[in-house]
Amino acid sequence: MSRVLLFTGKGGVGKTTAAAATATLAARSGHKTLVVSTDTAHSLADTLGATAGAEPTEVAPGLHLHQVDTQKALERQWGDLRDYARGFFAELGLDEVTAEEITVLPGAEEVIALLELREQARSGRWDVIVIDCAPTAETLRLLALPEALDWHVNRLLPVGRRLLRTLSPLIRRVAQVSVPEDHVVGAGERLHRGLLEVRELLTGPDASVRLVLTPEAVVLAEARRTLTSLSLYGYRVDAVIANRVFPAEGADPWRQGWVEAQAGHLAEVEQSFAPLPVHTVPYLDAEPVGPAALARVAEAMYGESDPFAPPTVDPPLRITPEGELILALPFAEKGEVDLARKGDELIVNAGSYRRVLALPAALARRSVREAVLRDGLLRVRFQSGGPDD
Ligand SMILES: Nc1ncnc2c1ncn2[C@@H]1O[C@H](COP(=O)(O)OP(=O)(O)OP(=O)(O)O)[C@@H](O)[C@H]1O
Ligand SMILES: [Mg+2]
Repeated sequence: MSRVLLFTGKGGVGKTTAAAATATLAARSGHKTLVVSTDTAHSLADTLGATAGAEPTEVAPGLHLHQVDTQKALERQWGDLRDYARGFFAELGLDEVTAEEITVLPGAEEVIALLELREQARSGRWDVIVIDCAPTAETLRLLALPEALDWHVNRLLPVGRRLLRTLSPLIRRVAQVSVPEDHVVGAGERLHRGLLEVRELLTGPDASVRLVLTPEAVVLAEARRTLTSLSLYGYRVDAVIANRVFPAEGADPWRQGWVEAQAGHLAEVEQSFAPLPVHTVPYLDAEPVGPAALARVAEAMYGESDPFAPPTVDPPLRITPEGELILALPFAEKGEVDLARKGDELIVNAGSYRRVLALPAALARRSVREAVLRDGLLRVRFQSGGPDD
């Protein structure tokens, strides 16, 4: 299995730089490394000082860059869905929807890039896969969508398919709108399965997320919310990277002001994100671009620690042998977390985020006895289930 490392954080804090530096170090340490970007701005290639090809291209010894061509991937993999959407919109009297417009849907590009990544992960070619993610983990949250849709797809689709087939001539006449044909429904199922597989890879035991921030109040507040929601959705965060830390030596009064303010925020980061390690990177005197500069960033960032060791942090969700469900929700406040039970599912709301958790068979039939949020852990206890209940 490849070691999968994801980098996320607020816009502009240094995600691409941290990802490129980590990938550079991985290759220099002898790991076969793939670095992937989910954005289309080509910043990753610029940062590495390289040109990306459509396929993984070796940009330094042992370091391969993959800039997914989302348009081509969409054509190849999801043409059926696109044709359906196009026809559907045309029948509604809307202008023809082009492939370009579909990829404008929020998050679509990133999701397509992640779907493509599955094949690379399966190939077994890579020791380390580094992913430069979109700001504040928007895409990673999007991957939780299939979990929520699972219920509908699993339970409704077989029936839905039958219904659609018998009803389609009728619907066609009445609604003047086409109903998806079998191959379209098939593509929908494939997409759904694909999303579940990507999520499994990214939340699996060999994957972890590194949260990049700069020591500033606004950035910090957002990083906290990102950590809560990543945890809610089951991603392990194994380190914080504090980038652009002003050096204290020889500071003039202007820089001295920044040094002091950052020191305060850094102390807060160390204390509130503990036990996560906080790796700091100084504000350099020039943009770190190209392999040599990136290798220096990685050295400053990780020091003596091994950034490619398997993650040692617990997965956010676990169920104890006694049947207690424990979900880590760091920084979540009591007032913003609530629970609901719907059939076999437990719906957890934390702030504006929601996760639909399918309960394992052992808990599915037992009702919730109590739920407590303490020290960043949500503990849910169920009625003891036995033959007499
Ligand atoms: N420690 C640093 N010292 C000096 N410049 C830096 C440092 N880290 C990043 N930069 C520069 O800051 C700019 C933004 O960094 P980067 O592109 O890595 O951010 P990002 O979080 O990926 O941004 P986006 O949200 O737009 O993807 C780049 O020009 C980069 O070279
Ligand atoms: Mg970037």
